[in-house]
Amino acid sequence: MKILIIGNGGREHAIGIKLKQDNADVELFFAKGNGGTEELGTNVNIDTTIDIVDFAKNSNIDITIVGSEALLVDGIVDEFTKNDLKIFGPHQAAAMLEGDKAFAKSFMNKFNVRTAIHKSFINSAEAIDFVATQQFPIVIKATGLAAGKGVIIAQNLAEATKTIQQILDEKIFGAAGNEVVIEEFLNGFEVSVLSVFNGKNIYPLISAKDHKKIFDGDKGANTGGMGSIAPHPFYTQEIEQDFIDNILQPTLLGIIAEGLQFAGVIFFGLMIVNNKCYLLEYNLRMGDPETQAVLPLMQSNFIEVINDAIDGKELNLQWKNESSSCVVVASKGYPNEYEVNKLINGISQIKNNVVLAGAKYIDGKYYTNGGRVLNVVCKANTLTEAIDKCYKTIENIEFDGMYYRKDIGKM
Ligand code: AMP
Ligand code: GLY
Repeated sequence: MKILIIGNGGREHAIGIKLKQDNADVELFFAKGNGGTEELGTNVNIDTTIDIVDFAKNSNIDITIVGSEALLVDGIVDEFTKNDLKIFGPHQAAAMLEGDKAFAKSFMNKFNVRTAIHKSFINSAEAIDFVATQQFPIVIKATGLAAGKGVIIAQNLAEATKTIQQILDEKIFGAAGNEVVIEEFLNGFEVSVLSVFNGKNIYPLISAKDHKKIFDGDKGANTGGMGSIAPHPFYTQEIEQDFIDNILQPTLLGIIAEGLQFAGVIFFGLMIVNNKCYLLEYNLRMGDPETQAVLPLMQSNFIEVINDAIDGKELNLQWKNESSSCVVVASKGYPNEYEVNKLINGISQIKNNVVLAGAKYIDGKYYTNGGRVLNVVCKANTLTEAIDKCYKTIENIEFDGMYYRKDIGKM
């Protein structure tokens, strides 16, 4: 079987590792992949929908898996479907649940998916008049895709006013900021619940926690994610039931009512306040770095899960009774400017615990090639053991400007 994975981060390498573990004879292709995926299969230097469709056709790819969101919002799944090619991911209309936060919010309201109280604006003066009547902090979101930077928590009216003007008038996020969603600040803890949708039912994976801030103690700028653990230690059965009743089921009913069915991932970004789940956002793809922590705990054969989902079959997901943690090792300066092409030492000694992200492989050596460079991933019987293992393992790695958080998994 030939599988094509689209993307070049740690998430895509982790998906490749899991597929290869479950099915030694699967042939993997990555567009574009990285220094880690290169060892699992073939990296193909293409990144547009047209080129990827052509490649899948010409190379007789059996299933394509889309890692990141941009091509989904672009409609890559619609193109694959037109060409009778199998793909795991939402078509464009469903991808807008991630690609347009205003659309996602009106969907949540229409179908009673529990979420923060909010209002959308395209006019900055109206938005500013509105925030002047609100309590602080307040959350301001650019509605389009802004690479994880489009959410600002304003502490007072001056900050909120400036943020609204920057997004709507100065267009700091470009067209992604043609509209803003302004919503109440929810004070709780976050849980990432990834799930697989087979077009009929939504099957949640094991829960996870992502550490989004750059510095220890959740300080500093938001990033794509600096580490993750699974399962989430505070996600109790009671909270899970609340999630199913107030988020998952209404979402499923809404998707069916709107005719948005697809086979792919729905990732629920939850905030838990007093044991009640609120949906912050939908993502229509797996999370990075949640995937790196979640997949090693999956007992089921992932390609069978994906294939069954595409065929609309019932899924039966099995999990290992263990915990896992993932520590992201980044380049100094990330999420802002950072240097690349630094030699990375120590990977070969700890290969089984390393997932590569912004790293390339040239003539037997690894070099940095991005902000989030690599992930160290460990699992064990307990979360504490998994985390300890990660931090011991990380000591083998060394490169100029190496940075990682020291408190992944601490709550
Ligand atoms: P989003 O892209 O909508 O998930 O927002 C990114 C991050 O901003 C979330 O992971 C939260 O940490 C934070 N956030 C978003 N919405 C809210 C909210 N209503 N209250 C508190 N924090 C929020
Ligand atoms: N880790 C959060 C995301 O992938 O969006």
